[in-house]
Amino acid sequence: MKVDVLLGLQWGDEGKGKIVDVLTPEYDIIARFQGGPNAGHTLEFEGIKHVLHTIPSGIFHSNVINLVGNGVVIDPVIFKAELDKLAPFNIDFSKRLYISKKAHLILPSHRLLDAASENAKGKNKIGSTLKGIGPTYMDKTGRNGLRVGDIFSPNFKEKYNALVEKHIGMLKHYEGFEYDIKAQEAAWMEGIEVLRKLHAVDSEHFLNKALLEGKKVLAEGAQGTMLDIDFGTYPFVTSSNTVTAGTCTGLGIAPTRIGKVIGIFKAYCTRVGSGPFPTELDDEVGEAIRKEGREFGATTGRPRRCGWIDLVQMRYAIMINGVTELSMMKADVLSIFDKIYACTHYLVDGEKVTDFPFDVNDLNFTPVYEEIPGWNCDLTQLDDYSVAPNELKKYVSYLEEQLQVPIRVVSVGPDRKQTLSNA
Ligand code: GDP
Ligand code: IMO
Ligand code: MG
Repeated sequence: MKVDVLLGLQWGDEGKGKIVDVLTPEYDIIARFQGGPNAGHTLEFEGIKHVLHTIPSGIFHSNVINLVGNGVVIDPVIFKAELDKLAPFNIDFSKRLYISKKAHLILPSHRLLDAASENAKGKNKIGSTLKGIGPTYMDKTGRNGLRVGDIFSPNFKEKYNALVEKHIGMLKHYEGFEYDIKAQEAAWMEGIEVLRKLHAVDSEHFLNKALLEGKKVLAEGAQGTMLDIDFGTYPFVTSSNTVTAGTCTGLGIAPTRIGKVIGIFKAYCTRVGSGPFPTELDDEVGEAIRKEGREFGATTGRPRRCGWIDLVQMRYAIMINGVTELSMMKADVLSIFDKIYACTHYLVDGEKVTDFPFDVNDLNFTPVYEEIPGWNCDLTQLDDYSVAPNELKKYVSYLEEQLQVPIRVVSVGPDRKQTLSNA
């Protein structure tokens, strides 16, 4: 069997959690392959809204295994809090939740280093979620990190202490940065106790055996392509590979195993945190999208920056990921407009540019838009794409033509049920 991949094509928060939840009944295993609690994946059904950070978005379906892969970084404190929040739903975690022994651990001192680094950057800060993501991946590639498998070792505490000592040395370079590691340690160790009771596995073996047995696997991405450490708007990115290739390294899956690649995008575009955003609308139109789309971060609550869809950026993301089908989210939000816009190319020093440039920051460029008639009516009650307004269908066809990939799903609200199939 192949591994299907679902990931974000913009700057995160495209609605990945919702679509994973909708697709889970078609799969046996849902596996997160990168990122950590910087992610906030929202699911809504039966009148309840759930926000997941580390736990895969298939957790509400019985008979499906949710795997936290080796490419993920785990904060035991946040992980425990996520499990506690799920307690009322009687989920049997021993059967449904597996964790890779090779996943790295976020220490309280990683979070402090993240905060100290952002403080020191001043106005150049990345706008990190301050969950310790960057420092944890730095320790992973620097070959200093602690992994889930280490928590079963008799000298785990010594390993932990040695890494904290190293971090204290690093924190000395940030003059005036005050902290109290001890205050955070008890909760962290409690989280470690909880992790010890969960099902830790050699996930690369587990997954490959499952594939040989004919099990269906969906890999759930976090963040978005434009936040990828290699292909995103560096340095305003996260510290992992958010693209399809990240599935191979983040789960131990060979490239030949990749099946469908489902790209999730909003009918417009948003970004939270600092960094370039070519089609950003820093005006009342952007404000109207933010209000209508309730564009506030699921993890940090920060307002998201809003703008029109950027087809240069989208084509780039489709190319890097090898996207085979698309899901367009939040079409209902654009119902407030008579006319909507799509950026078809940029003008850089007067020249037409259609390849996403190296550094969008330094360029003297203007996004060029095509005007498209809006549908200007409520979509949230729709349950059949065939009776959708013509203007919406034309927008979908226009995007399919521009992007050369079919849009199989059109989402018209946050609830599971507000999902239209265009298969
Ligand atoms: P993720 O990180 O990609 O899983 O996305 P988030 O959960 O951070 O952000 C997506 C937000 O949009 C959440 O609040 C969802 O409930 C909401 N959402 C998802 N799809 C739709 C949709 O089609 N319409 C509307 N109005 N909201 C949606
Ligand atoms: P999901 O999975 C949107 C952004 C942060 C910041 C940058 C680096 O919910 O789509 P980090 O904490 O990783 O050091 O932050 O990346 N960011 C996200 N933006 N959605 C996310 O995840 C994000 N995870 C990180 O705002 O700009
Ligand atoms: Mg999110």
